[in-house]
Amino acid sequence: MIDFENAKTASIKSSPSMAVSMAAKAMRARGEHVVDLSLGEPDFDTPAHVVEAAIDAMRRGVTRYTGPDGLEELRAAIVAKFKRENNLDYAMDEISIGNGAKQILFNAFLGTLEPGDEVIVPAPYWVSYSDIVILHGGKPRLVPCGVEDAFKITAERLEAAITPKTRWFLFNSPSNPSGAIYSGKELAALGEVLRRHPHVAIMSDEIYEHIVCADVPFTSFANACPDLKHRTLIINGVSKAYAMTGWRLGYAVGPKNLTKVLNKLQSQSTTCPSSITQVAAAAALNGPQDFVTEAVKEYKARGQLVTESFSAIPGLEVRAPEGAFYLFPKCEAYIGKKAPDGTPIDNDTALASYLLSAGKVATVPGSAFGVEPYLRLSFATSRENLAIAAERIRDALAQLR
Ligand SMILES: Cc1ncc(COP(=O)(O)O)c(C=O)c1O
Repeated sequence: MIDFENAKTASIKSSPSMAVSMAAKAMRARGEHVVDLSLGEPDFDTPAHVVEAAIDAMRRGVTRYTGPDGLEELRAAIVAKFKRENNLDYAMDEISIGNGAKQILFNAFLGTLEPGDEVIVPAPYWVSYSDIVILHGGKPRLVPCGVEDAFKITAERLEAAITPKTRWFLFNSPSNPSGAIYSGKELAALGEVLRRHPHVAIMSDEIYEHIVCADVPFTSFANACPDLKHRTLIINGVSKAYAMTGWRLGYAVGPKNLTKVLNKLQSQSTTCPSSITQVAAAAALNGPQDFVTEAVKEYKARGQLVTESFSAIPGLEVRAPEGAFYLFPKCEAYIGKKAPDGTPIDNDTALASYLLSAGKVATVPGSAFGVEPYLRLSFATSRENLAIAAERIRDALAQLR
């Protein structure tokens, strides 16, 4: 038998949240009623005018390869988005697009990391960050920031993590999985540290920009630290804001000498994201934004609902999410207990697996995001499902001894 896996691929794992979701799907296929809180995607349909724009693009024959940097109408829409929403000026050649923001992260690390380069990542972090860094020969330098730190890295901790090998500081606000948002003041404090270390570039993943649940306004890193804009890659996309996860379109803006590298890689990998998707994304960015306003209103209501219902469960330490659509309770009180059948609950992975089998609720353990013991619960599902999930989790936890 040929062993097809090389050392690079063997050094990473498949996405853990996908794995939980597949397990939940398999249980459903067996006829079990499972509430799936494991996936990070909006449960709404893509707005109708975006779908119409795509159909129109196909009818007009916008069905050919585009340049690796995308259709001019999409690039113009991205430039306009940053001006309108963030008051940031970017030129048409300071843009890169990809098949999802995930591919941009992939291209960014593929194109810039030398073996052994370090990437500072505050934990909890989005599951794919560390594996993408490892895959490209880099070393994730994880800085744990638990609930007691409001899930955010401080200037002191950032300073302590920087070495001569640091290539990037990568962070995400609003955060998946913690729901934390960095204020302008907090970003400015991080900027002060980064200013002292000119060899460190900043990757700011702002894909949840619009999904703000609390009264904390979103601030783009480039707004908080305009003088560091030339060292910053801002990552964004249409997946979360416009319920377009399956369309696969992410975009980034940054210095021209970096977007050039990303676009070169794009030209040698997928060439470009689908031309039809590009037209749809331009329609999403340029068109009416009431879909976003309505969706955010609903996420806000759900966020309050889950914060209340899960705070009422004994032993769960809940911090109300400020943005994105996740609750990330600490579950230390349940670690070391035993399930009714004697199975030990030694860690959050065992707890999530117990909640799936005994409570029929799919969650993702904190360890998948680099901190333990936590659970990530996505509230991108109906209020009814969320109420059922809270009840089931409460009952299942109460049976642990
Ligand atoms: C923090 C974060 N960044 C990036 C992505 C990638 O999004 P996409 O590839 O769909 O644009 C996700 C998706 O879950 C995410 O949560």
